[in-house]
Amino acid sequence: MTATLTTMDEVRTQVAIIGAGPAGMVLSHLLAAEGIESVVVETRTEAYVASRIRAGILEQSTVDLLRANGLGGRLDAEGHQHRGIYLQWPGERHHLDFVDLTGRSVWVYGQTEVQKDLVAARHAAGQQVFYEVADTALHDLSSDRPSVTFTSPSGSSVRVVADAIAGCDGSFGPSRGAVPESVRQSWERLYPYSWLGILANVAPSTDELIYAWHPDGFALHSMRSDTVSRFYVQVPNDTPIGEWSDDRVWEALAIRLGHGQDGWSLETGPVTSRAVLPMRSFVASPMRHGRLFLAGDAAHIVPPTGAKGLNLAVADVALLAPALAGLVRGSSALADAYSDTALRRVWRCTHFSWWMTSMLHTSGDPFDAELQLSQLRWVCSSDAGATGLAENYAGLPIGF
Ligand code: FAD
Ligand code: DHB
Repeated sequence: MTATLTTMDEVRTQVAIIGAGPAGMVLSHLLAAEGIESVVVETRTEAYVASRIRAGILEQSTVDLLRANGLGGRLDAEGHQHRGIYLQWPGERHHLDFVDLTGRSVWVYGQTEVQKDLVAARHAAGQQVFYEVADTALHDLSSDRPSVTFTSPSGSSVRVVADAIAGCDGSFGPSRGAVPESVRQSWERLYPYSWLGILANVAPSTDELIYAWHPDGFALHSMRSDTVSRFYVQVPNDTPIGEWSDDRVWEALAIRLGHGQDGWSLETGPVTSRAVLPMRSFVASPMRHGRLFLAGDAAHIVPPTGAKGLNLAVADVALLAPALAGLVRGSSALADAYSDTALRRVWRCTHFSWWMTSMLHTSGDPFDAELQLSQLRWVCSSDAGATGLAENYAGLPIGF
């Protein structure tokens, strides 16, 4: 079914989705599989959304969901399945094998690729997406005919009238603010450090990701493919990117990742992208107000150390799609449970991301450093410690 233009500038659909990032596009896909029609509105261009370099790791349940919904073809052909990760500190590197520990694994497959697959699938299905909109606003959330208005690129005003609205518009979109302050609660933790991330045209120097604790600061060796590597180094907040030449980044990576130790060497190559990323934890509750449902970064932000942001967005909409399908068809049980059910996983991932971040980033305090090293030694030497990390990193089942 395609959306119908009922008056010149009014569109009628079943679910209006704000935001064409991973949450919004996976939701439109899952809703279509449930026989529910949706319209997506997005401020950016299609190309811009698909080219944002962000997450790189998919957990088991995300991969299962993408495959089960016809989105696993390129992921299976081009993604790389990893059994686990390396944790290291000066002089020691340990492999945690998630498959042995939990029977679950993770995949290296960039958010850019997930987004391209989603766009291709939704195009093929005739999904209506309004790109480059302005002035997005939400209306009548307490009625059973809520709507979203926006200005199209040609300057005309458009109203999308729906049975429900999904706020999938990330941390800066208008949806979260549409939940009245009188019913909204939020929690926030700002961290005193950021990540400087680079993408480089060089084969990975490791078979699986390396998370490194070092007195100079955390470093992460990740990857995108056999020829493209992704790296992050901990830097102070508000670090001007200009202070870090490519040479300085490679030097810091070599020291923190242990170039030259036990015969391991870090290969370098041309840097194609660089950015400084601040880190914070944020949770907003409830994730539903009337006929508005929040999903993904619109409701919560995690620091990236646990690789959870994208996976959590997908887990939200896996719950939300059947909830909205039920609501549209007159059964509100899943919709009524959505916020509480989703927040259970949100808080689990919020804790795990905070825990990984706190364990691996140096604060400059020698007492903190000893506690971190003690924690790392325990995680790497105890099955209980290793399994706890593995279970959270590889991802709990959808519906946990
Ligand atoms: P988004 O991807 O933010 O999508 C929201 C969409 O809504 C956007 O396309 C936006 O343009 C649109 N929108 C906003 N306002 C409006 C409006 N008014 N009207 C219409 N549309 C609107 N996670 C990891 O796990 N690992 C990482 O390394 C990592 N790196 C990151 C780097 C950066 C710079 C950022 C910002 C995030 C990173 N994340 C990472 C987090 C991860 O990318 C997000 O959790 C994920 O993108 C969430 O998906 P989403 O669809 O909820 O939100
Ligand atoms: C990547 C990002 C992460 O935050 C992480 O924990 C692992 C990998 C990445 O961009 O590849």
